[in-house]
Amino acid sequence: EFRPIILAGGSGTRFWPLSRRARAKQVLVLDGDRSMIQQTVDRLAPLAAADKFWVITNSLLSDTIVDQLSGLPAEQILSEPAARNTAPAAGLAAFLLERESPHAVLGMFPADHVIGDEPAFVETLTRAIQLAATGENIVVLGVTPTRPETGYGYVETGAPDATGAMRVRRFTEKPDLERATAFLAAGNYYWNSGIFIWSARTLAEAIREHLPSTAKILEKIAAAFGTPDFESTFEELYPQCENVSVDVAVLEPRSAKGEGQSNIFCFPADFGWNDLGSWTTLYDHTFAKGAHTDADNNVVQTADSLAVNATGNYVFSPKKFVALVGVKDLVVVETEDAILITTRSNSQDVGKVVKHLTSVG
Ligand code: GDD
Ligand code: MG
Repeated sequence: EFRPIILAGGSGTRFWPLSRRARAKQVLVLDGDRSMIQQTVDRLAPLAAADKFWVITNSLLSDTIVDQLSGLPAEQILSEPAARNTAPAAGLAAFLLERESPHAVLGMFPADHVIGDEPAFVETLTRAIQLAATGENIVVLGVTPTRPETGYGYVETGAPDATGAMRVRRFTEKPDLERATAFLAAGNYYWNSGIFIWSARTLAEAIREHLPSTAKILEKIAAAFGTPDFESTFEELYPQCENVSVDVAVLEPRSAKGEGQSNIFCFPADFGWNDLGSWTTLYDHTFAKGAHTDADNNVVQTADSLAVNATGNYVFSPKKFVALVGVKDLVVVETEDAILITTRSNSQDVGKVVKHLTSVG
């Protein structure tokens, strides 16, 4: 039995001004006509019925998410009283489901990725679920790196077996540029996609081993689920969990046990994974699909537009007519109350705008 767990409590700032605290990336419609979290659920539909899904998010987003995911049982969309990063969030799902079916296989999915080849995604996941259902295996989906990105985790792997699974030798969360460059050159490293597959019992046991005090708290919260005390128990106890990601709390120490002992496997995620980290990444993704793209490589998501001697620009302004004249490689995003003007090579710095706006209130 497969249970998708969607982690959607992050607070992305890199899609400012479209993203706001209550409109984080996962609920935005950036690509096509469904939000990121709706697309996350849609692409898992071939593997699990709607009542098998759980979503862990926060109170700023939960109303929007309940609305957007109206086909899912609302009581399985949990709203954390405080953000404690992904280890407690994933752990909570594990303790809840361990009580009901310890051998259920959980898939942990970030809510804000795009995936180009959905049939390949489903095929890879099917193999991952099989491997995670046997023994205490942990499976991570790994993306072939194309640059020395320091914003991702890296998975060092051994040779693949007959099914294509590779033993994980070492997991390194967000290395510095020097190490990321060495990992890229080595050839046997993958980016961590943030997608993990393991049984409820395996994950619960891992939390008990690596985060014992958090495990005790989560166990109490899980025991209260479905009782009238759940809300108050969750409210009171959850903020006491350690604030740490599952990558750092479980994957790094587990993999340090070395190949052969760690029970962590990696399948290559050859399905067009992209975590849409900035407006520039969204430009690249939309351009690659050929959507909203004109003959001069402008990607224009507007009511209407005209480009005169303009190339390589990205414009988001759903309600307006936009004219581009003699400009190149710009990023222009217009919302009701703000305009962003930057270039494709600088758009990752919009986080600084958000920092500034938050600090001046
Ligand atoms: N419920 C909940 N609570 N969800 C959370 C929380 C939280 O406190 N914090 C983050 N999330 C969700 C985010 O919404 C996102 O869907 C997912 O968990 C991953 O969190 P990010 O904050 O986006 O993590 P990251 O990008 O820094 O790093 C992770 O993802 C990379 C790939 O995109 C790591 O797993 C890296 O190793 C990985 O390479
Ligand atoms: Mg992320």
